[in-house]
Amino acid sequence: MERKNSGKKKKRIPVILAFTAVAAAVFWLRPSKEQEEIVPEYVFSYAENQAQDYPTTLGAIKFAEMVEERTEGRIRILVYAEGVKGAEGEVIRQMKFGGIDFARVSLSQLAEYIPEMNVLQMPYLYTDSEHMWRVLDGEIGVSFLSLADEYGLVGLSWYDAGARNFYTADRPVTCLEDIEGMRIRVQESEMMADMVEALGAKAVKLGYADVYSGIERGLVDGAENNWPSYESMKHHEVAKYFTVDEHTRVPEMQICSEKTWEKLSEEDRNIILECARESALYERELWKAQEDASKHTAILRGAEVIELSAEEKKRFQTAVQGVYEKYCGGQMDIIDRIIAEGGVK
Ligand code: GCU
Repeated sequence: MERKNSGKKKKRIPVILAFTAVAAAVFWLRPSKEQEEIVPEYVFSYAENQAQDYPTTLGAIKFAEMVEERTEGRIRILVYAEGVKGAEGEVIRQMKFGGIDFARVSLSQLAEYIPEMNVLQMPYLYTDSEHMWRVLDGEIGVSFLSLADEYGLVGLSWYDAGARNFYTADRPVTCLEDIEGMRIRVQESEMMADMVEALGAKAVKLGYADVYSGIERGLVDGAENNWPSYESMKHHEVAKYFTVDEHTRVPEMQICSEKTWEKLSEEDRNIILECARESALYERELWKAQEDASKHTAILRGAEVIELSAEEKKRFQTAVQGVYEKYCGGQMDIIDRIIAEGGVK
């Protein structure tokens, strides 16, 4: 009997030791407070249709980082770039129902749901980038951000997308007669289609992701966009003639779904607004540099630049006047105010 008891004791000691060692290891190896994974209160999605290294995507990433930092990890925003959340029109529609929380979209797509927005993207409206920014940074810009609520959205800030120009595959556009009868891809926007048709071309609405193949397969003779998009989407490979006419400046809006907004406290809303504005200033800086870099790269890769003469540009401008009557009928006072801003330096 005695023997058996002592045998049991011998086994118990190593078991207790091992137990203590494991407990100590668990205690010492546990993550410190800083190392502990912070579990966010909210994880939100952000849709962006440009490439990872594009200015608007970098602006979105900056926005997400700032929000996470300033809410001490309570709000995490996951940026889905390269259009994985769908085409812009579809993204806007999903946001109305809270399916996507945040996005950066082209105003032309937003104007399909809120037609008054067209006023800010009318052809040949701004004389240059500074003119557009005076308008967007002023009272008009603020009031149009709040107009987003007509479609269940919150307008957070304005992003830059430069000026749009025509580019074509087989022949250059040097004058109004050249574009006549050409099939030109436009965004899925009534106003853009009408503008192109007013110039005598045939408008073909296509999603952004389908433009390259559309030109390559001869579905369209050309398209129109800014330098960074032309280069980033490699459109220069299939449409080398780039005609600088700067027919539109289409600003972009950072938006939040009202369904998401409603979940947030006043404090979090203010943080988000502040980060959106700061990220917009950051994007604008990146944009300036990217416009030059993309132009340079596209030319190196074979793009041919055609500058329209002032006289020819005037003919383009005159040709689209009817579009103002159709889209800005009740808002000509705003158009006048925007034009007046052009003279302020
Ligand atoms: C620009 C804009 C995009 C838009 C695209 C288009 O690149 O930034 O948001 O989708 O134009 O032409 O469709």
